Amino acid sequence: MKKSITYFENPGEENTDELIKLVIDRLNYSKIKYIAVASVTGKSILKLIKELENSYEGNLKDLKIINVSHHAGFKKDNELEIDDETRLKLEKKGIITYVGSHALSGVGRGISNKFGGVTPVEIIAATLRMFSQGIKVCGEISIMLADSGLIPVGENIIAIGGTGKGFDTATILTPANMTKVFDMKFHEIIAIPLP
Ligand SMILES: Cc1cc2nc3c(=O)[nH]c(=O)nc-3n(C[C@H](O)[C@H](O)[C@H](O)COP(=O)(O)O)c2cc1C
Repeated sequence: MKKSITYFENPGEENTDELIKLVIDRLNYSKIKYIAVASVTGKSILKLIKELENSYEGNLKDLKIINVSHHAGFKKDNELEIDDETRLKLEKKGIITYVGSHALSGVGRGISNKFGGVTPVEIIAATLRMFSQGIKVCGEISIMLADSGLIPVGENIIAIGGTGKGFDTATILTPANMTKVFDMKFHEIIAIPLP
């Protein structure tokens, strides 16, 4: 079997538009119905939706797209990084924004921040980051969404992430719950930045 992977020369937001095109190309010849998206502010997922409305060949109503933002307090106490207006705009298009504890840092981050060292879950995150920041993000949001019941385990989904802002990585994976994290399977990389 031969399949293609797009390698971006550099990580980062500048790859967002191309990444979106590649995801839609891949969606157009697959039966995948779930898309897990990491869009902290909602900016990049709004671009994805616009492009899907223009060039997805299937019925958009058959797709289940879920957004994930950072947990409250990631940047500043009691604050979310997605505003109500954007969240509502997405909701009107049927897209939920999930906000919760990050699966691949979680309370472990609080422990290592206070006492130093590293927790096992942070080692999983660091290992996935050896591929790209986005690969870690794809894995992380798929666990978070599986645990929230918003995406199924045991079914292939597309997951999209990036490096800080925008999108530069997309994968096809089977999500797993946090209690069975090593059942998660990465099947394909659609696009990834070179390190
Ligand atoms: C739960 C979560 C965890 C994230 N973790 C990382 C990370 O470890 N490294 C990184 O470079 N970006 C991380 N991001 C950022 C995303 O990969 C992506 O670039 C960003 O959400 C795009 O948001 P935007 O649409 O506001 O630009 C994370 C985002 C979310 C929602």
